[in-house]
Amino acid sequence: MKKLTYFCIVICLLHGFFTLQAQDLLSPNGQIKLNFSLKEGKPTYQVWFKNKPIVQESYLGLVFKTHEAMVENFQVIETKTQTFDETWQPVWGEVREIRNHYNELALTLQQPTGQKLILRFRAFNDGIGFRYEVPFLLNTAYAILSDETTQFNLAANHTAYWIPGDYDTNEYRYTVSRLSEVSTQEAMRASEIGVRTPFHPSAVQTPLMLKTDDKIYLNIHEAALVNYPAMQLVLDKSRFLLQCHLVPNILGDKAYLQAPFQTPWRTLIISDKATDILASKLILNLNEPSIIKDTDWIKPQKFVGVWWEMHIGTGTWNYANNQNIVIGKTNPKDLKPNGKHAANTQNVKKYIDFAAKHGFQSVLVEGWNIGWEDWFGNWKENVFDFVTPYPDFDVQELQQYAQQKGVKLIMHHETSGSATNYERRLDEAFRFMKQYGYETVKTGYVGKIIPRGEYHDGQWMVNHYEYVARKAAENKIMIDSHESVRPTGLHRTYPNWLAAEAARGNEFNAWSIGNPPNHETILPFTRLIGGPMDYTPGIFQIRMSHYNPNSPHQIHTTLAKQLALYVTMYSPLQMAADLPENYEQRLDAFQFIKDVPVDWDDTQILEAEPAQYITIARKAKNSPNWFLGAITNENTRNLNIPLTFLDKNQTYKITIYADAPDADFEHNPMAYQIQTFLADSTSVLKAKLARSGGLAASLVPATQEDKKKYKKLK
Ligand code: NOJ
Ligand code: CA
Repeated sequence: MKKLTYFCIVICLLHGFFTLQAQDLLSPNGQIKLNFSLKEGKPTYQVWFKNKPIVQESYLGLVFKTHEAMVENFQVIETKTQTFDETWQPVWGEVREIRNHYNELALTLQQPTGQKLILRFRAFNDGIGFRYEVPFLLNTAYAILSDETTQFNLAANHTAYWIPGDYDTNEYRYTVSRLSEVSTQEAMRASEIGVRTPFHPSAVQTPLMLKTDDKIYLNIHEAALVNYPAMQLVLDKSRFLLQCHLVPNILGDKAYLQAPFQTPWRTLIISDKATDILASKLILNLNEPSIIKDTDWIKPQKFVGVWWEMHIGTGTWNYANNQNIVIGKTNPKDLKPNGKHAANTQNVKKYIDFAAKHGFQSVLVEGWNIGWEDWFGNWKENVFDFVTPYPDFDVQELQQYAQQKGVKLIMHHETSGSATNYERRLDEAFRFMKQYGYETVKTGYVGKIIPRGEYHDGQWMVNHYEYVARKAAENKIMIDSHESVRPTGLHRTYPNWLAAEAARGNEFNAWSIGNPPNHETILPFTRLIGGPMDYTPGIFQIRMSHYNPNSPHQIHTTLAKQLALYVTMYSPLQMAADLPENYEQRLDAFQFIKDVPVDWDDTQILEAEPAQYITIARKAKNSPNWFLGAITNENTRNLNIPLTFLDKNQTYKITIYADAPDADFEHNPMAYQIQTFLADSTSVLKAKLARSGGLAASLVPATQEDKKKYKKLK
């Protein structure tokens, strides 16, 4: 018996000794290789693409306030590998089917104390993902996380497309620079957001887009951000090493966790084609399937709204000017109207009529509920109650009116950053929505989070956004969240979370230095990698001096580029953001916004280069129709697109919405031309895009009449 025990111990020790302390993982096509190895007990990894080093030796680990750090003294005690290959159908999206194909390596590491840490790596053909899993904790089951030490050792001075690491907002202009030239304070000033504290002065945000000198495109982000803070990346310029920096809370703690727990996936999309970065579904594949079983009520939609008039200053959100509203006490009838309140019954009816006439599913109304008199900068916790309309907004009458016209109203819940107030009132707010027939809500978190101590991108708020998405799902409510943390593919799990803002939207062009001409050519490579954005495209009146002669502001694109954005910036929720009167004056161009779908069977990224140009073709869901969008940065561009993606046996009528020959985003932004031809898969679409210009096209099967009427595209 003794001998047997002795024998077993030796076998166990040998097993530990012989378990490989280093191991390779290959992508299914063999082009991406990841190596894991323990260096003197410390976990490290490296990545190669087509045999070129992409990530050099980089350390991994978790550090706690409450527990021994999980960064060293490890032994690999178990290794598991598996191959996974499955095709799934998103509820809505850019394509009908998504293939999730990867090889996985899961290593169980153990410290002398017995503490275990599982590292799970997945290698896909388009990149890698990995995460930490802590199956149990010694002594106490909860932990305070003080750091995650994940590194991305790039070891070269790549070109980066980045925004500074603010804990509260992503609403920045992007900087394109070498990693060595990253200067976050300068970028904050250049975006006119002001230098903000606290933040880590050397941190940039993800999704971070990078390009190597030998033209390999890299994108670093995360997937399935749940119960954890957002990851930023601190740059060590001496080695071009990026180190994970988690958004803290006010005490400097990063996360409060209970075992078992897992971190979000750290993701690295890799390709030598920029178009592959835009086509990647890696982040969605690393998210959990939908928690919602019956998804029939989830509807991609296009909407108009009482919105732009507030941003251009012709209307106001607030009804009165006084600043002493006490929620629950102030009688809305006692408020004195300022005469500019936009969300009044008559005006909303105008938008409902417009939506009904032009086939839009819904109408957003902002500024309908009391509280806007002191919503911003006053640090009020109870600023809105989400159930008390202003006296000139007849919620019942509008419900009936919208219903008659076959249009849905979109609710607006601006929280003014007071997330606690919103959570307390959420059940009632959703009940009110259901009572009056609202199915979609736009939420907002402008300003610092109240009560203070939380950041927009910290663990507490990450949990808040997910809580709202879950509650909304229970109530069959769809969400468009503004000022929330940037998406990480959670719309696979919560397909009712249609879109988020979480970047610098078109609205900045109305009242600030705005978005530069390359902005929309960068967003799909950065912010949109995590999920759809409510960018609010479609502004036809480009110059703000039209409303206010003194305004220097303008949209920094041509009108045709505003149309192309409906194709190049994917979202299942798209606003036609301009005023109805601006569309009514240009109904020919407006036709494209009316026709373009928001849900697709297929997407082909035809050409793309970050900060320069993007051309995408998409096939509408359950339809033979294709739509194409092409945009350029501040330079003109000659477009030359073979239409080989079209059905080989079909002739199409192509309607092209292009920049006029003399269009220019600064000097002549609203000049466009519309032409119609016949086209097929042998046709080549040629056009000149103006500076910050664009082109949109619709392709529908040609009728016999069309075939007689139109010439063939040469
Ligand atoms: C900022 C949002 O991005 C914008 O769309 C909204 O109109 C204002 N907040 C007011 O809630
Ligand atoms: Ca915003």
